[in-house]
Amino acid sequence: MTKKALITGITGQDGSYLAELLLGKGYEVHGLIRRASTFNTSRIDHLYQDPHDPEAKLFLHYGDLSDGARLVTLLHEIDPDEVYNLAAQSHVRVSFDEPEHTGDTTGIGAMRLLEAVRMAGVNCRYYQASSSEMFGATPPPQNEETPFYPRSPYGAAKVYAYWVTRNYREGYGMFATNGILFNHESPRRGETFVTRKVTRAVARIQAGLDDYVYMGNLDAIRDWGYAPEYVEGMWRMLQADEPDDFVLATGGNFTVRDFVVTAFEHAGLDWEKHVKFDERYLRPTEVDALIGDASKAKDKLGWVPKVQTDELARIMVDADVELLKHEGRHWIDRPTLEDWPTFGTRA
Ligand code: NAP
Ligand code: GDD
Repeated sequence: MTKKALITGITGQDGSYLAELLLGKGYEVHGLIRRASTFNTSRIDHLYQDPHDPEAKLFLHYGDLSDGARLVTLLHEIDPDEVYNLAAQSHVRVSFDEPEHTGDTTGIGAMRLLEAVRMAGVNCRYYQASSSEMFGATPPPQNEETPFYPRSPYGAAKVYAYWVTRNYREGYGMFATNGILFNHESPRRGETFVTRKVTRAVARIQAGLDDYVYMGNLDAIRDWGYAPEYVEGMWRMLQADEPDDFVLATGGNFTVRDFVVTAFEHAGLDWEKHVKFDERYLRPTEVDALIGDASKAKDKLGWVPKVQTDELARIMVDADVELLKHEGRHWIDRPTLEDWPTFGTRA
C-alpha cells in the first residue's frame, strides 16, 4: 500500500529535498504551506503535479504551526504514516529579534503538532527537526549524550521541542524521533545563512555586480554537510525498529573564515579584497564551535555522509555562478542584503 507522509516546512531547504526523496520512493506526499502574499513555493515548483491527475502524489495544504485546530483537522483528513516536522523560524540571528514568535513556532509549534497527532488518533511515526544549536556553549565533539546549553531564543525553543518529543514518546508510546542535525547546506539554502550568503556574494563579485560582502564573526566553527544527504538520514530514522534520537554530522571542523577562503579561491578571487566586517551581524551570544559525532547514526542507521565542507563550498559556488548566468537580470535588479535599511541588527 502507498505510504503517506506529511511534511511541515515543505517550502524550505530540507522540506524540498525530503519531498523529492519521498516522491522518488513512491510515497504520497502532503505538505503544509503558509499563506503568503507572494508565492513561496519556488523550491518545490519543479515537483508540481496536477492535483486532478489520478496519479498525482503531491498535495499542498494551507496551515501554520501556530494554528493547532487546523493541524488536528489536517492530520485527521490525511491520516499519514509519517510526519516530518521541519517547519520553524530557523534563523538564529532573527530569533534574537523575534524571540516570542520563534518560541511559538519553533518550540510550541512542535507540541501543537504532536498533540494534533494524538487528538486526531493517527498512528504515525513522527520526526522532529532538532538542532546542534541545542548544544550551544557545550564544547565539541557533541553527540546524543552531550548536555544542552542553548545560546539563543532559537536554541532554547529547539530544546523545548526536543524534550516534548521525548515526552510524547515516553508518555504516550508514540514513535517520536529527534534528528539532531548539524548545519547542512545546499544551493537551495536560504540566502541569509552564512554559506549561501558567501557563495552568492562570490558569484556577484566575480560577475562585477558587487565589490564587497559584509560579515560578522569569522571565527565560529561549524560542521557543514550537504542537505540532500541529511534528509535521507531523516527518512532512515523513521524506518528504524525503535524511536530514538540521532545526531547527523560530518565531523568536519571549518571556521566561517575557512568557508569564505574556499569559496572565494574556487572562483579565483582573493577574499581579503572583498570581505568587510559589519558588527551588525554579530549575535548577543554566539555559539563558538559545533562539531558533531554521528557514530550512532552510522552504527544503527548505516548513515554516512559523503560530501565534506570544502566540496560543499565548491558545489554551492558553482550553483550560484550558474544561477547568475540564467537569472542574470533578476539578480542584477534585486537588492543585495546590504541595500535594505535596518535598525541595528542584520540577519
Ligand atoms: P528553512 O529553509 O528556513 O525552512 C523553514 C520552513 O518552515 C519553511 O518552509 C517555512 O515556510 C516553514 N515555516 C516557518 N514558520 C512556519 C509556521 N509558523 N508554520 C508553518 N510553517 C512554517 O529551514 P531548513 O534549513 O530547511 O531547516 C528545516 C528544519 O530543520 C528547521 O526546523 C530548522 O530549524 C531545522 N534545522 C536546520 C538545520 C540546517 O542546518 N539547515 C540544522 C538543524 C536543524 P515559508 O517558506 O513560508 O517561510
Ligand atoms: N548568517 C550569518 N551572516 N552568519 C554569519 C555572518 C553573516 O554575515 N558572519 C558570520 N556569521 C557566523 C554566525 O555568527 C554563526 O557563527 C555562523 O556564521 C553560522 O551562521 P548561520 O549560517 O546563520 O547558521 P547557524 O549556525 O547560526 O544556524 C544554522 O544551523 C543550525 C544548526 O547548527 C541554522 O540552519 C539553524 O536553523 C540550525 O539549527
